[in-house]
Amino acid sequence: LRVLSLASEAVPFIKTGGLADVAGALPAAVAPHGVAMTTMLPGYPGVLARLSAQYPVPKSKRAKAAGPKVLHEWEAIFGHRARLLAGTLDGAVDGAPVLVLDCPALFDRPGGPYGNEAGQDWPDNGLRFAVFARAAADVAGGIVEGMEFDLLHAHDWQSGLAPAYLKFAPYGGRSVPSVMTIHNMAFQGHFPAALFHQIGLPPQAWAVNGVEYHGGVGMLKAGLEAAHAITTVSPTYALEIREPHFGMGLEGLIRSRGAQVHGIVNGIDPVEWNPATDPAIKSQFTARSLAKRQANKRALEKEFSLESDDGPLFIVVSRLTWQKGMDVLAGCLDHLAGLGGRLALLGSGDAGLVGELSAAAARHPGRIALRIGYDEALSHRMQAGGDAILVPSRFEPCGLTQLYGLAYGCVPVVARTGGLADTVVDANLAAVKAGAATGVQFAEVDHDALCEAITRTISLYHKQDVWRAMQKAGMLSDFTWTQSGGTYAALYRSIALENSPA
Ligand code: ADP
Ligand code: GLC
Repeated sequence: LRVLSLASEAVPFIKTGGLADVAGALPAAVAPHGVAMTTMLPGYPGVLARLSAQYPVPKSKRAKAAGPKVLHEWEAIFGHRARLLAGTLDGAVDGAPVLVLDCPALFDRPGGPYGNEAGQDWPDNGLRFAVFARAAADVAGGIVEGMEFDLLHAHDWQSGLAPAYLKFAPYGGRSVPSVMTIHNMAFQGHFPAALFHQIGLPPQAWAVNGVEYHGGVGMLKAGLEAAHAITTVSPTYALEIREPHFGMGLEGLIRSRGAQVHGIVNGIDPVEWNPATDPAIKSQFTARSLAKRQANKRALEKEFSLESDDGPLFIVVSRLTWQKGMDVLAGCLDHLAGLGGRLALLGSGDAGLVGELSAAAARHPGRIALRIGYDEALSHRMQAGGDAILVPSRFEPCGLTQLYGLAYGCVPVVARTGGLADTVVDANLAAVKAGAATGVQFAEVDHDALCEAITRTISLYHKQDVWRAMQKAGMLSDFTWTQSGGTYAALYRSIALENSPA
């Protein structure tokens, strides 16, 4: 089965969050189940640079410098010249294929994938991702000779129009079925109605079962309406988004799709995230050599200029936003430090939250330390050296940092929501007795509940046998893609079968 996976970010090309981890890992996850997946990305500067690096300049000086292969050229998609370039995810000639939409006017600009260096969204994001989706629908419909697909898999609002193009305006009349995955309902890609007139959809697409949403263009909504199946990244989130609080306006649509909405939990990339082989960490370890983590803990204390002692070292690796409960965390830090805990936090995001967290760090020098920014290697060192990772999210479709914590023996302390509820086993009496506990869960994301969870974690930490057992159970639990890769493949197959041209 040939699947075109459409994402606005994927490791190792470009990453701002968990979507990139998932889109980057999916091809290898489904490959053992007979799915050949091609990933399509927008040509941001970093993506183009990485793609070019896959084509070394030939030795012969006279030979023209090789460049990425151009598979197709569009004279104009909604007014913009574009080319389709080819490469592979890992750079190996036989690696999972990557297609890059090189459209300089829309994607080749400094800043991030969605906004400028100051963090403001690009004003033309609607058009940018409409062009991306249109190009993908063309590719899925066979615009590149010799390249055919059986199904298109769209991730998040940035890809949401692709299923709509396949439904309302397929290239050459050839439509393939599609799957739409919600990684985060909080981001829906809502644009003014005027955009509709620029993006080449027929009038009948301006409808409740099309792209129209509250008088504008709703890109995620469009994908959810048009796709043959909907998935989200954990079973609990799939249930939660049926309710207004989590569905954020789309709960009715989700409920109306009934059994076509599936919750498939994310896995983690076992090559990138393996404490036994991780080159980013000082002392590699397994569940059987947990004592070796100590060297990582000491190194982490040093790196964050924290006092060194035998008390618990908490970590946080997170976007600093309301979703992640970082305001609630800031309010609990006096409590954490008062109980002899320490915290190393890595994150970036809202200036207000940075201010609150910085104030807490200033009140507790040597006990609470922050690193504001984005640092992939440091995030590995933190998972390897921290005792517990705090994830107090108000909602969390899946969450990956708690999975990395499990894999690295860094016990997750999580809010009982979405994928956090599905992947961490709370250390209640029964679970501890059965040796099944892998972390701590708490119900409400508020000051008292988080403080109580911190208290409970610290007392568990001081029961050495229990703590060790939790670390081990976490490290031995299944957070790989094995099962979910098979579930995606089975879903693709059933949809392709049901919708195959007669
Ligand atoms: P979300 O996608 O909602 O931000 P996830 O937990 O699914 O949440 O994924 C976040 C990903 O980004 C993880 O791989 C995490 O390690 C990484 N990450 C988040 N913030 C940082 C940071 N400041 N530095 C390095 N990695 C980070
Ligand atoms: C989103 C969600 C996060 C999830 C990630 C990957 O960013 O916020 O919970 O893990 O997507 O699916």
